[in-house]
Amino acid sequence: MAFSLGWKTSRSQWRFLQAMSSGLPLFPWRTVGSCLDPEMKAYLEENTEVTSSGSLTPEIQLRLLTPRCKFWWERADLWPYSDPYWAIYWPGGQALSRYLLDNPDVVRGKSVLDLGSGCGAAAIAAKMSGASKILANDIDPIAGMAITLNCKLNGLNPFPILTENILNTQQGKFDVIVLGDMFYDEDLADSLHLWLENYFWTHRTRVLIGDPGRPQFSAHSIRRRLHHLEEYTLPEPTQQDNNGLTTSAVWEFHP
Ligand SMILES: C[S@@+](CC[C@H](N)C(=O)[O-])C[C@H]1O[C@@H](n2cnc3c(N)ncnc32)[C@H](O)[C@@H]1O
Repeated sequence: MAFSLGWKTSRSQWRFLQAMSSGLPLFPWRTVGSCLDPEMKAYLEENTEVTSSGSLTPEIQLRLLTPRCKFWWERADLWPYSDPYWAIYWPGGQALSRYLLDNPDVVRGKSVLDLGSGCGAAAIAAKMSGASKILANDIDPIAGMAITLNCKLNGLNPFPILTENILNTQQGKFDVIVLGDMFYDEDLADSLHLWLENYFWTHRTRVLIGDPGRPQFSAHSIRRRLHHLEEYTLPEPTQQDNNGLTTSAVWEFHP
C-alpha cells in the first residue's frame, strides 16, 4: 500500500521514541554529513529508491518510496518509525520547488527557511537557485537524515537542518520562508497561519506556499490572505499517487 496523508497518525508515540533510542542523536541541529547513524543510513537506503522522474523537477534527485520498494506494498504498521512523509515528494512541494528553480531571483543571495521540509526538495531547489543561507526544518528527525542524503545526491554542500517544532518559538529573520504541502491538517493549518502572521509583521519576510488544493487549505481563512503566483499540471505519476489531484499551485502570503 502506498503511503498517503490519510495513512498518518496510526503510529503511537513509542515508535517515535524507539527511533530516537536506536542510536539517533537527539540534537535539534543537524549539519549535513555529520549526524548520519550508519545503521539508519543503511535502513533508509535499503528501503528507498533514488529517483528524479515522475515529478515537476527532474533536475532534483531524491531518495523516495517507490513501487520498487518493499514498503510501497507492505503493511504500513510494519514500518518501524514515524510516518515517512519525507519519503514522498508531495504535490505542494513539487510546485514550490519548480517555482524556485524557474524564478531563481526569488531566493538568489537570500536566506531561506523551508518549514516542513520533508525530503528537502524545496530547500534543495532554493540552494540550486543560489540562496545564500538555508535552514530546513522538520519535526521528524528521520526527515533530517533523508534531507542529508538528498543533499549529497544533488552534490550540494551541507545546509543546517532543525528538527524541533518552531511554531511556538520566535525565530530570527529569514528573507524567504517556503512551505510545501503543509496545510493537510486543520490544527496544523491554524498554528501555521498564526505563526506566519506574527512572523510576517515582525520581519516582513516573503512567504511562499505550495499546495495542490487540499480542502484544509482551500477552506482555511489563510486563503483570503494569499495571492496566486503560479499553477502547474502535475505529472501523470504524481496524479496517480494523489487520488485525483491534477494541479498544484504556488501562493504568496500577504496578510
Ligand atoms: C506533507 S509533508 C510535506 C513535505 C515537503 N514539504 C513536500 O512538499 O514534499 C509535511 C511535512 O511537515 C512536517 N511537519 C509536520 N508538522 C510540522 C511542524 N510543526 N514543524 C515542522 N515540520 C512539520 C512533517 O514531518 C512532514 O515531513
